[in-house]
Amino acid sequence: MARDTPLAAATSFSVTLPEPPITLPRYHSMRQAAPAVPHAQCRQPGSAKTVSASRLGCASMCGSDDRAAPWRQLVDTRPEPRLILLCGLPGSGKTTLAKRLAHAMPAVRLCPDEWMADLGVSLFDVEMRDRLERRFWAHAQELLRLGQAVILEFGFWARTEREEKRLGARGLGVPVELHYLSASIDELCRRVEARSAAGGRGTVPITRGMIEDYAQLFEVPGDDELGLFDEPPADRRPAERNQ
Ligand SMILES: Nc1ncnc2c1ncn2[C@@H]1O[C@H](COP(=O)(O)OP(=O)(O)OP(=O)(O)O)[C@@H](O)[C@H]1O
Ligand SMILES: [Mg+2]
Repeated sequence: MARDTPLAAATSFSVTLPEPPITLPRYHSMRQAAPAVPHAQCRQPGSAKTVSASRLGCASMCGSDDRAAPWRQLVDTRPEPRLILLCGLPGSGKTTLAKRLAHAMPAVRLCPDEWMADLGVSLFDVEMRDRLERRFWAHAQELLRLGQAVILEFGFWARTEREEKRLGARGLGVPVELHYLSASIDELCRRVEARSAAGGRGTVPITRGMIEDYAQLFEVPGDDELGLFDEPPADRRPAERNQ
């Protein structure tokens, strides 16, 4: 647009802004003015979901005080902190499930393969993978402390790795789920071959010989170990059956 174009002549529109705009001092005064509501009553209108009242006063979230509605919308979308470990060999479906869960929960997904590919690091650089996973674990704990749900797509071949994360999450008072994804060697080979042919981000050729070697190293979690982890909430179980 030329500098001297009269803007008023070129466009005509109106915008309705919320009145008055919410500032931090106004928000604090809303909270102080809001009546106390027992936490048990804190449900979103029309929803069976109980809203966590850990960070803000109940009255600013539960619908008892319309003055706080804009803030309620922001707060209600926050997930409960929860750690999800996706365990399985290449091609078992970890990334596929992680993307679905990350969207549905919502949760932050930390996938070493994608980061290594984006950073130009070979996916077979074991030392770099170890360093990245250690950094991701530190970052995941920060996110959990801040109340976020986190999904780790590390594969978790060794029981000791799974145990470290379980104990770490429990130390933070956070539930932790272990999802073991399994398929036959033939099926894993078929999937990784199809994925490589499609040429998605961060895909590398993985041969049958490699998958057979990996399967020898992989420590399958038994029922005893799976029982040490938390169950997914009931509203998420049907979606996971489609994995
Ligand atoms: N339950 C499933 N049934 C059939 N195909 C699936 C299933 N889950 C994933 N796939 C397909 O298999 C391929 C591998 O899936 P995905 O990339 O999620 O595996 P992955 O466990 O993340 O593998 P990697 O460890 O190599 O990252 C993808 O092309 C995906 O579409
Ligand atoms: Mg993956």
